[in-house]
Amino acid sequence: MKLWGGRFTKEEDTLMKVFNSSLEEDLALVEEDLDGSIAHAEMLVHCHIISQEEGEKIVQGLHKIKQDIATGNLVVEGNHEDIHSFVEATLTEMIGEAGKKLHTSRSRNDQVATDLKLYTKKRAKETINKLQLLIHSLEKTAVANQHVIMPGYTHLQRAQVVTFGYHLRAYIEMFRRDTKRLEQTVANLNESPLGSGALAGTTHDIDREITAEKLGFSKSTANFMDGVSDRDFIIELLSDLSIIMMHVSRLSEELILWSSQEFSFIKIDDAYATGSSIMPQKKNPDAAELIRGKTGKVYGALVSVLTTMKGLPLAYNKDMQEVKSPMFQAVDEVLLSIKMMDKMVATVQVNGEQMKQAIKAGFLNATEVADYLVQKGVPFRDAHGVVGAIVLYGEKVGKSIEQLTLEELQQFSDSIEQDIFAYVDYTNLLKRGNKKEMLD
Ligand code: ARG
Repeated sequence: MKLWGGRFTKEEDTLMKVFNSSLEEDLALVEEDLDGSIAHAEMLVHCHIISQEEGEKIVQGLHKIKQDIATGNLVVEGNHEDIHSFVEATLTEMIGEAGKKLHTSRSRNDQVATDLKLYTKKRAKETINKLQLLIHSLEKTAVANQHVIMPGYTHLQRAQVVTFGYHLRAYIEMFRRDTKRLEQTVANLNESPLGSGALAGTTHDIDREITAEKLGFSKSTANFMDGVSDRDFIIELLSDLSIIMMHVSRLSEELILWSSQEFSFIKIDDAYATGSSIMPQKKNPDAAELIRGKTGKVYGALVSVLTTMKGLPLAYNKDMQEVKSPMFQAVDEVLLSIKMMDKMVATVQVNGEQMKQAIKAGFLNATEVADYLVQKGVPFRDAHGVVGAIVLYGEKVGKSIEQLTLEELQQFSDSIEQDIFAYVDYTNLLKRGNKKEMLD
């Protein structure tokens, strides 16, 4: 059964049917579509547009469809253009004439916009929940490694001492911001487009606030044309997801580097690594690499939707059907990636000894030697020059700063005394100034 056809003289070409149908991908929207239809039917009764009896038949039928799909008694398939057509056809087959009244004063255009908003809301909340689990695992691993000192890097060159726990906490901050962004996306989309009709409302006296409230929106959209053609919320969600992937990808990159033999700072649990078909010794960080790789797909979805939307005149255009699958796929990939990262973070083995060893080379306390001199009254810029010369000398004689004798150090500044050694000790220096925060 088709929703249109009266004005046509010819059947659709078979390729056109396949080309035009979104039924397969619309499976993701089935729950939202049924909820939207239930709310719409109840509103039609309330506004005396259909009878109480018709309304009850429709609503019961829609609930039955929901149930049948959940139990597997009904499969979303067949020769239908999209989920909206499928539901109407199935309903009418099930309850008869009343089913044909469901579509009174609405269009698939306001329907799909409503479905997509409900879907975006649901998936954004799911992502927020998964992020909280990841934050929790990061927190646990950070606490367990609160005092494990390691080199902190800039330009991937050893820079200053940090702790492994503190390093992980940087990611917690990123995922907290991601959470806020998702919450904002949900808040921004929270207006119901249902009742906008195809683009220009309806001559029936419907009440859009009723459907808005029933579906959990704070109010209905102000402009019909915007209501049916707005896909900003999908772009916002995909932006949020892209940023999340950028963050998990950066963490993946660090796990990959740290687990390499060159670093040997961590071991990824065997459960999240794989081997080589030819090199028996290999253990590869595939899960982290896949997260890094999937990031490109999610960015691709964002660019795809932005590009689809950029040239569209108002209001609805069929191009908009193409924004659905990139979004559905992106959300699936992101949820999987967050879950996988959560498992890796929770099981990572930390080689604190190796991290400590790495601190010994690279003059990671050079900045603190300059701080020491400043405390002795040397202006910072002069202190910087003095320590630069000490580093140059250390490199020449193959010694770190703390390995130099007091006499050697005093050649560079007579402000240097015995207490320098305690001052620049790696564990001690984390207890000074605001560096203390790294140990909290
Ligand atoms: N299947 C379409 C979509 O996903 C909704 C239907 C709009 N069709 C139409 N002829 N106006 O965007």
